[in-house]
Amino acid sequence: MYKKFFNLKENPFNVNPDPRYLFLTRSTQEALACLTYGIETRKGFILLTGEVGTGKTTLLNKLLGWLHQENVATAFVFNPRLSVSQFFDFMMADFGIPCESRMKSQVLIKLNQWLLDRYQAGERAVLIVDEAQNLSPQMLEEIRLLTNLETSTEKLLQIVLAGQPELEGKLNQPQMRQLRQRITLRAKTLPLTLEETRGYINERLRIAGSDGSEVFSAGAIEAIHQYARGIPRVTNVLSEHALISAFVDQRKPVPREVVDEVAHDFELLEVDPASQAMAAAEVPLNGISAAGAPLNGNHPPLVESLLQALNTLVERLNNSEITVEPERARQTETPTEKEP
Ligand SMILES: Nc1ncnc2c1ncn2[C@@H]1O[C@H](COP(=O)(O)OP(=O)(O)OP(=O)(O)O)[C@@H](O)[C@H]1O
Ligand SMILES: [Mg+2]
Repeated sequence: MYKKFFNLKENPFNVNPDPRYLFLTRSTQEALACLTYGIETRKGFILLTGEVGTGKTTLLNKLLGWLHQENVATAFVFNPRLSVSQFFDFMMADFGIPCESRMKSQVLIKLNQWLLDRYQAGERAVLIVDEAQNLSPQMLEEIRLLTNLETSTEKLLQIVLAGQPELEGKLNQPQMRQLRQRITLRAKTLPLTLEETRGYINERLRIAGSDGSEVFSAGAIEAIHQYARGIPRVTNVLSEHALISAFVDQRKPVPREVVDEVAHDFELLEVDPASQAMAAAEVPLNGISAAGAPLNGNHPPLVESLLQALNTLVERLNNSEITVEPERARQTETPTEKEP
């Protein structure tokens, strides 16, 4: 709807973890380098953590693309609620290992043999488990046992465990120390800095086919950063919402006020950039800490409320489409936006 107005070919701010849109910040680069290095050098167990919506799954999708190019066998488990036997079924199927038996001992024999064959052929195999903060202690223990599949010198299976910061908490429990000791590398995704938010938004616009004309004013980007606190998912929802709102009002580039209005609809608090770094964990925001983590289970998740508000705006947009033509545009033009 708004794509033509902003000269875009596709929607730049989808909330899917699409690796085509991956913007390599310093921390993303470091995390990706850590993951690829760990896998290449058969480090065994790698942990990837990061606040909600900071790009873990997007990064894993990028990693998967690289692994496929490198001919590395992969299994990507993204549903942490699987039972142990479902987990093994899923992993075997994703690796493409035929196995008729559902007995765990048989499954493990097959897996071990398959891993040894690959090892002898000089090939690698990687198991990636996303959303690992929700894994049961039993499932984490099963994953730990998989690290025992090894030769006398090297791990046969590389495992990447990815999850929100609660995962660190889980692994810090005394009964998890065996698993914790096996983690050889740790990677992290971090919220964006203001400079990175600028690059992030512009890069997404470029990939979405922007012709380079200004879509967001500098003030609008600053406001997005302050309200979203550098969390890419919130940045996407706010930016998308601001584009729709600005289109309804036929305003281009998106001015700061539009972002303020959208953020107000979402009941987001603006963060003073100077205090933003210091505030990291304390400032409450609809049940979300400044870093984006839910403060406790009683509050509605921020992103859910953002998406709800987005739906309302889309409805508003649909209803307004008939009346949004030049007549409306002229009414909303401010003197500074007029053609000279
Ligand atoms: N570095 C990045 N480059 C481009 N887009 C990103 C980046 N980081 C996050 N995003 C975007 O932000 C949104 C959320 O990312 P993603 O789903 O990967 O986060 P996550 O850390 O896996 O979240 P969760 O903790 O909820 O699983 C997606 O739309 C994704 O494309
Ligand atoms: Mg994710």
